Amino acid sequence: MASNSSGDQIKHVTVVGGGMMGAGIAQVTAQAGIKVTLVDLSEEILRASYHNMKVSLQRVMRRTYPNNAQQQDRALKEALGYITLSTSAEEAVRSTDLVIEAIVEKLPVKQKLFRALDTVAPPHTIFASNTSSLLIKDIAEGTKRLDRFGGLHFFNPVAVMKLLEVIRIPETSKETVRKMTEFGEAIGKTTVQAIDTPGFIVNKLLNPYMARAVEIVENGEATVQDVDTAMKLGAGYPMGPFELMDLTGLDVQKHVREINNERLRAEGKPTLTSEIIDRLVSEGKLGRKTGEGFYVYKKKSSKL
Ligand code: CAA
Ligand code: NAD
Repeated sequence: MASNSSGDQIKHVTVVGGGMMGAGIAQVTAQAGIKVTLVDLSEEILRASYHNMKVSLQRVMRRTYPNNAQQQDRALKEALGYITLSTSAEEAVRSTDLVIEAIVEKLPVKQKLFRALDTVAPPHTIFASNTSSLLIKDIAEGTKRLDRFGGLHFFNPVAVMKLLEVIRIPETSKETVRKMTEFGEAIGKTTVQAIDTPGFIVNKLLNPYMARAVEIVENGEATVQDVDTAMKLGAGYPMGPFELMDLTGLDVQKHVREINNERLRAEGKPTLTSEIIDRLVSEGKLGRKTGEGFYVYKKKSSKL
């Protein structure tokens, strides 16, 4: 359970968006014994989120309690007991200490959500976004709690990746940064602090790397498989850049590119385009989550 000396720990979290990231964030919160409400647009989506959390929790419990099926089962049930599902963020936030938003990577949609929640959440509630590439200050615009607003940027797969980036805007209070950091520690993550710049730390480094990988393939310099093999065996990365894009989602990759292109256009710099990513996204091949992206997952064979 989350704890700190001042006794103002986070006791209830609302995660909005039950996709790949939101379900993972809700899962690790529940694993830490903190009550969490997971919100998405429909019961059907929430059923899929619950299934994904359960499957991932089973893997975690198998790893945590090897050769002890009873303990695995007990711990699984206990973690699931901390999770509530809801289709109404407005209802969920009425009694929440922390809102973590993990919905689609589109600024107007995120702004609309936070502006609506700002009118119903209690004054003490902290708002945080898990955005990959938008600025927190833009997402927070129009809310009246800039001192209680920040970024909590998790990494995929959330159940496994140990890092949490804690992002502050100039108005974020020290108290808010402290509470977000303590929450991160309570759920077993190692936190790093960063200010609100595009990509924060990790994506600022990863995005140009992935863009260069796409360029290499589109220029016909090497194949998808050879680039992936090169980076795994030559640079010690656990996944190659194309495997990584398939993991994070090519739709997310496309949104991130579009956001970065808007910035490049504003600075009069050349924008990044990718015929391969545009084509795969238009065909609904979004990576692992749809069973196909750069690779076909059932057969584990390369597409390109
Ligand atoms: N849930 C629970 N446990 C999981 C899991 C999940 N989703 N995925 C992996 N595991 C655990 C399990 O214990 C698993 O063992 P079992 O298969 O027996 O359950 C164990 O990890 C090993 O997993 P795998 O055999 O599937 O594969 P692996 O050893 O290659 O590890 C990986 C998988 C952790 C994803 C590893 O390849 C890796 O670290 N890849 C890089 C991921 C990365 O860079 N993520 C950051 C992306 S950037 C981002 O997220 C930010 C953004 O804004 C886009
Ligand atoms: P996803 O498409 O898997 O999930 C998004 C979910 O949000 C969907 O289930 C959708 O139905 C729901 N949603 C959309 N609008 C909503 C609303 N108004 N209210 C409630 N639910 C709503 O996306 P994802 O990959 O989980 O990414 C979510 C966020 O996390 C994005 O901002 C993304 O940039 C960021 N992020 C993604 C990754 C990654 O690896 N995919 C890593 C770190 C951060």
